Amino acid sequence: MVEESVVQRGLQDVVALESRICFIDGRGGRLIYQGYDIRDLAARSSFEEVAYLLWYGQLPSARQLHDLRQRLGELRTLPRPVLDVLDRIPADSHPMDVLRTAVSALAVFEPGESRPGESSIGGALRLTAVIPTILGYFHRRRTGAPPLTVNPELSHAAWILHALRDSPPTDLEVRALDVALILHADHELNASTFAARVTASTLSDLYSAITSAIGTLKGPLHGGANERVMELLAEAGNVDRIEAVVRDKLAKHERIMGFGHRVYKVEDPRATILRDWSRRVGEAKGDLTYFQLLRRLEDVVHAEKGLYPNVDLYSGSVYSLMGIPKDLFTPIFAASRVAGWTAHVLEEYQDLRLIRPMAQYIGPTDLTYVPIEQRPD
Ligand code: CMC
Repeated sequence: MVEESVVQRGLQDVVALESRICFIDGRGGRLIYQGYDIRDLAARSSFEEVAYLLWYGQLPSARQLHDLRQRLGELRTLPRPVLDVLDRIPADSHPMDVLRTAVSALAVFEPGESRPGESSIGGALRLTAVIPTILGYFHRRRTGAPPLTVNPELSHAAWILHALRDSPPTDLEVRALDVALILHADHELNASTFAARVTASTLSDLYSAITSAIGTLKGPLHGGANERVMELLAEAGNVDRIEAVVRDKLAKHERIMGFGHRVYKVEDPRATILRDWSRRVGEAKGDLTYFQLLRRLEDVVHAEKGLYPNVDLYSGSVYSLMGIPKDLFTPIFAASRVAGWTAHVLEEYQDLRLIRPMAQYIGPTDLTYVPIEQRPD
């Protein structure tokens, strides 16, 4: 029998590797990308600037940022065989499944961008550029909207809104989404980033790592929580019913999505910023319904469980106010987090060590094999 060791369920509190990309101060409620506080980045930078920071470890010059924007714009077109794959996917599929399938297909049709173990930024740029195209192409086909025309000039945030909607976005909408993308771009060893690094640590290729990450982000305990928050608001319908709905769920030992965090012991700083944007976009639309429901939800959940909001609480309200359907919330998360995922995979390749923990075996070790014909039915 193997000697007993302490089992850290869910790898809680385990420090698995060294990284320069992102730091979470869970008690101080701070989030740092490559040395810069998320609050400064959300107030003053853009998604593209943050992606550059994550990939290269420093802020870009004006020329470097211009070049990055240009390259992302040029890389937005999908190859015909991937469009053919998308055309065959049932229209009622979840967009996260579509995204996972399309990224995996892209690896087959563009093998050059995805060489195993290679620290090339080319694949990171390609995946970041193309995710909104995948989502827009599928979403327009399933809704019967006019086909997507690729626009290389737009910022990443404006391109996402262009891909997913017919009406041109306002400057406020583009900035609100840009801030949301900055806030979602990285978060240390969250489950999907860890999945990407585990895949990369076997010397597998970048596209396989990102396919693993997309499948991991999909779950409701991770990226999928934003979608469930809006379902809870719909279930409650009005502010007066929030308390009853929360109590009912807690009595059934259900989790309230958008609350709690493995690392933060105080409010997630991303939730603080998104709360403000939820209000701002609500005011601009003349509709503070979501904002008021969410404020009430915060009060009730804090009173009942002492839990603080996480990034997923307010993001869905911002996207809903922009007319984006809720099954696209987590894919938008992916359209941002791909910057962090790819930065981590590139870092993994530079400091490679196979990630392979152990399990504490709790089963028997001395059973006698019984031939099948002698086993009872
Ligand atoms: N609703 C109700 N109870 C909760 C919640 C919640 N959202 N979060 C934690 N708890 C309770 C949990 O039931 C447990 O109570 P008890 O000790 O009485 O059994 C206690 O708090 C500790 O929970 P845990 O599951 O051991 O803590 P964890 O670190 O594994 O959980 C979490 C982290 C994010 C999975 C959890 O807080 C949760 O399920 N939240 C809801 C889903 C969610 O919003 N996910 C988004 C996370 S942030 C963005 C992202 O990663 O994508």
